[in-house]
Amino acid sequence: MTDYMPPFTSTVDLQSCTITNVATTLSRRLADMRGLYADAQAEAALAASNPLIYEVHYAANIPEEAGQLSYCTTVLYPGKVGDEYFMTKGHYHAKGDRAEVYYGLQGEGCLLLQTPEGEVNFQVMKPGVAAYVPPYWGHRTMNVGAVNFVFLAVFPADAGYDYKTIADEGFASIVVERDGKPAVIANPRRAKK
Ligand code: PA5
Ligand code: NI
Repeated sequence: MTDYMPPFTSTVDLQSCTITNVATTLSRRLADMRGLYADAQAEAALAASNPLIYEVHYAANIPEEAGQLSYCTTVLYPGKVGDEYFMTKGHYHAKGDRAEVYYGLQGEGCLLLQTPEGEVNFQVMKPGVAAYVPPYWGHRTMNVGAVNFVFLAVFPADAGYDYKTIADEGFASIVVERDGKPAVIANPRRAKK
């Protein structure tokens, strides 16, 4: 007989930006992202204060199995390292053919995507915007506003995370502030292929 998983709901609290049935909350500070920002001097200058860059709140009790969907909220704090906006580490899915949907809840953000060959794509994220991350695209978000940037992510529970490729090669582009506005420029720290 089929063992049916019980349906359930949870509430995304738009004040705290967490969800009611959170299993784990992951926090990433600057020291957890060593070498990912382009300006090494600016990174070193912030090392002592080691700012909190973002938190991810994962919904509980969803098995990491094919057919299941995981979801979480990400709260990215406002700030910059040099002129580069606070951002997530960024990853490809370990199972590269798994897609993902992001839904903007609060604040102003950017979604930067790239193929394994280094083709870059850039999407603006704000409350109400649903962004589709197709299979195989690496993805990273940044907060380009003055308040928290918050979004919900829904993804196949067996997708997994490949952080190593981004850590080794970097993103082809970065998002920096130019004349008070976000600009996408080539990453000076990108490893040559
Ligand atoms: O599933 C996703 O792509 C997101 O929930 C991210 O994991 C989250 O925004 C944090 O980014 P990263 O996993 O790159 O640290
Ligand atoms: Ni993802």
